Amino acid sequence: MFRTSIISEFKNRETPFYYYDLALLNDSLNQVKGLAEKYDFEIHYAIKANSNERILAEILKAGFGADCVSGNEVKRAIECGFAPETVLFAGVGKTDKEIRYALEQNIKAFNCESIQEMEVINELAQEVSQTAEISLRINPNVDAKTHKYITTGLDENKFGINQTDLPTVIETLNGLSNIKLTGLHFHIGSQIMDMNVFKGLCLRVNEIESWFSDRGIEIEHLNLGGGLGVNYLEPDAEPIADFETYFAIFAEFLRRKTNQKVHFELGRSIVAQCGSLISRVVFIKNGLNTNFAVVDAGMTELMRPALYQSYHHINNLTSNGEPTSYDVVGPICESTDCFGKAIKLPETKRGDLIAIRSAGAYGEVMMSRYNLRDQNEAFYSE
Ligand code: LLP
Repeated sequence: MFRTSIISEFKNRETPFYYYDLALLNDSLNQVKGLAEKYDFEIHYAIKANSNERILAEILKAGFGADCVSGNEVKRAIECGFAPETVLFAGVGKTDKEIRYALEQNIKAFNCESIQEMEVINELAQEVSQTAEISLRINPNVDAKTHKYITTGLDENKFGINQTDLPTVIETLNGLSNIKLTGLHFHIGSQIMDMNVFKGLCLRVNEIESWFSDRGIEIEHLNLGGGLGVNYLEPDAEPIADFETYFAIFAEFLRRKTNQKVHFELGRSIVAQCGSLISRVVFIKNGLNTNFAVVDAGMTELMRPALYQSYHHINNLTSNGEPTSYDVVGPICESTDCFGKAIKLPETKRGDLIAIRSAGAYGEVMMSRYNLRDQNEAFYSE
């Protein structure tokens, strides 16, 4: 939770703003780093979860690489000091301009999601006389058992290459001399809380890897993506995320050849809990059936509740009155602009400071200017 000294700092600032607890971020980073060293895993942080430069600086210090999904993310990573050989570029719709830029920067590898993409990368690499390293993103058809909007590893999803296409992929690759296949990439979804899902993923990856080795194709690295979930209901609960169980499952069930590298692209589990959206109550409004606490943050600052019906825990940082029920809503002209219905808060009044928790991942990066909203600078504590 928040120290009194931090809350006093909040009082002097214009709301809404993102607050990041960098000490907590470093706790997560240290846990992940320790386990990655223990099991000899490599981490490429998924920049899409939070590309704030101050956050990236801490992640860089932890020694992780960067997983990027746009030319601008590649640019951000490189400008923030990530060495090009630690940068990966994924995504289903890379444009020629983005591919050219990544080639120019000599990034480590492209995670390829279609046969046509392989052909285009080959052609663009040929133009600049390079051989680009690629990983194939394969759709393993494993159910992540999470919200359907953030499920990516089923046949019906647009992501990755289907296993039935693999013979054609291999045939095509043989004719492409400016790309080199070095890895296999998987990412089945996000906010995964059922750890058995990761065991299932390992078993499927083992089968797919064997398919390649049976054909004499050596895979240098296996990339298992991200997806580890966090506790949105109890943001202060320990551990920050269940990194121990997560990595132990891969260490136990993923079959790994000598010299084969294993990569992960964690995003949410590293940054979610260190961020909160700090807001002020603008009005209390008594509706017919409910009381509304109208706050000055909205779906423009944190889109997750409106987009995925997700709940982020809410604290009133000012009041310690009697528990009272409120619908906590934002000022945006949309009925989905609601952070929670019938939320019990200490009796709340105009001007109270409100913290919307676990907002460090997919919060600030998904902000929009809808309604021509102001955007305030983030605030950090060490
Ligand atoms: N690798 C790939 C290929 C991905 O697509 C993603 C996330 C990650 C890694 C990182 O996954 P994580 O460890 O963060 O689960 N906006 C949604 C989440 C979208 C996730 C997109 N891909 C949300 O707010 O829940």
